[in-house]
Amino acid sequence: MKQVKVYAHRGASAYAPENTLPAFALAMEQGADGIELDIHLTKDGELVVIHDEKVDRTTNGTGLVQDYTLAELRALCADNGMDGFAEARIPTLREVLALVKPGKMLVNIEIKTGILWYDGIEEKALRLVEGMGMQDRVIWSSFNHYSIEKIRQLAPEAATAYLLGDIICDVEKYAAAHGVQGLHPGLYNVKMADLLQRYLDSGLTVRVWTVNGAEDLRWLMGQGADVITNDPKLALEIRRGLTAS
Ligand code: G3P
Ligand code: MG
Repeated sequence: MKQVKVYAHRGASAYAPENTLPAFALAMEQGADGIELDIHLTKDGELVVIHDEKVDRTTNGTGLVQDYTLAELRALCADNGMDGFAEARIPTLREVLALVKPGKMLVNIEIKTGILWYDGIEEKALRLVEGMGMQDRVIWSSFNHYSIEKIRQLAPEAATAYLLGDIICDVEKYAAAHGVQGLHPGLYNVKMADLLQRYLDSGLTVRVWTVNGAEDLRWLMGQGADVITNDPKLALEIRRGLTAS
């Protein structure tokens, strides 16, 4: 049986500020199979790694990412209120890829085009990944399925996944019909009825977010689903226990 994978959600964000280099470095150190991160575009067209459209929640600044140049964003502290990380900054996608490139970790790039439409973000990110020779290590996902369609048009061989927020009938058939290989449902979503089993039976790769509790981690990995978690250390311990038993 194939081993399920553990992805660090926004890095090892239970231990270090989300979507920062310390969080991704820690995920690597803890032995995660992959990281998940979110991308937006700055005013000067740079790809940056941050979750929200606005900088308010995770930095000491205010306003939209797209209204800042990269240099202006760099002046912000991205410690997300966590002690000991005053030096943390919003990283570029290139910096995160360069950090993890020497290892084997996979990178789930979530394209944040659900609220704002960043013109050309898909192609820019794709070319960056290709230019760094990491196309075989990247999984593209988005709640905006048109962004995934764009990735597929530009790179039909790319690994792609649909993020699911709501529960959609026959979503596994819809994904397969679009040539998408992965489903990323929310934890609350697969707890309903037999959805997890349906998704797993479809043969698509199922990566459930955001799974932080021990019981949920044990259940999902035991069933054969990959997990996207803020706490890769805990998830890996639980996986070791499942493998041993
Ligand atoms: O990609 C999984 C998860 O990150 C999706 O939701 O809001 O945490 O980006 P969000
Ligand atoms: Mg995300």
